[in-house]
Amino acid sequence: MSKRRTAILISGRGSNMASLIEAAKEPSFPAEIVLVLSNKPEAPGLFAAKAQGINVAAVDHKIYAGRAAFEASLQKMLLAHRIDFICLAGFMRLLTPSFVSHWEGRLINIHPSLLPSYKGLDTHERAIADGVKIHGCTVHYVVAEMDAGPIIAQAAVSVLDDDTPATLGARVLEQEHIIYPLALNLAAGRSLKINNLRVTGAKGVACAMVSPHIT
Ligand code: GAR
Repeated sequence: MSKRRTAILISGRGSNMASLIEAAKEPSFPAEIVLVLSNKPEAPGLFAAKAQGINVAAVDHKIYAGRAAFEASLQKMLLAHRIDFICLAGFMRLLTPSFVSHWEGRLINIHPSLLPSYKGLDTHERAIADGVKIHGCTVHYVVAEMDAGPIIAQAAVSVLDDDTPATLGARVLEQEHIIYPLALNLAAGRSLKINNLRVTGAKGVACAMVSPHIT
């Protein structure tokens, strides 16, 4: 089966992007990373991707009058590279329902919480403040409603007594780098089925892992 021509959309550092690029080097991986796009021209991830010989582009949202014009430009870039699958990896712009519906089933995102808990920003701060004992990350299909799409993979870590948002976030990020390639492998491999919010067909490999911090 041909590899999915995949674009990664980023806004910053790009550590998840790097984990996807690394995983996609495996010859049998079902996705090929052909483009890294950022809404911020200065995003460090763009330089890292370029250094790996991947096509990079910036579509600076600030120069567009509104979301529709920004997304029209994004679409143009995606079509020009014959993209058929998109991974959002720290892409911090909300996408319109029209963009999302065009890419339905071919657009996935990583979020730093165990959805449906802690949608939105500052997830680690909020988890600590709430006193939850388990936190983590989620890869999900993107739907029009923010952070609400069908879940492909999750990983859990324990919240430790002395955690700060930074220490907890760092442990979650380690897990993000594991589950995002796993989820892309599953989703690009075309074996998953989506029924409302339930994603099946992962044969158990997308279930949560609890980090070794629990003793
Ligand atoms: C990651 O923790 C990712 O889960 C989060 O931004 C970070 C990007 O880091 N995404 C969101 O919060 C999306 N709502 P990275 O640029 O090093 O991959």
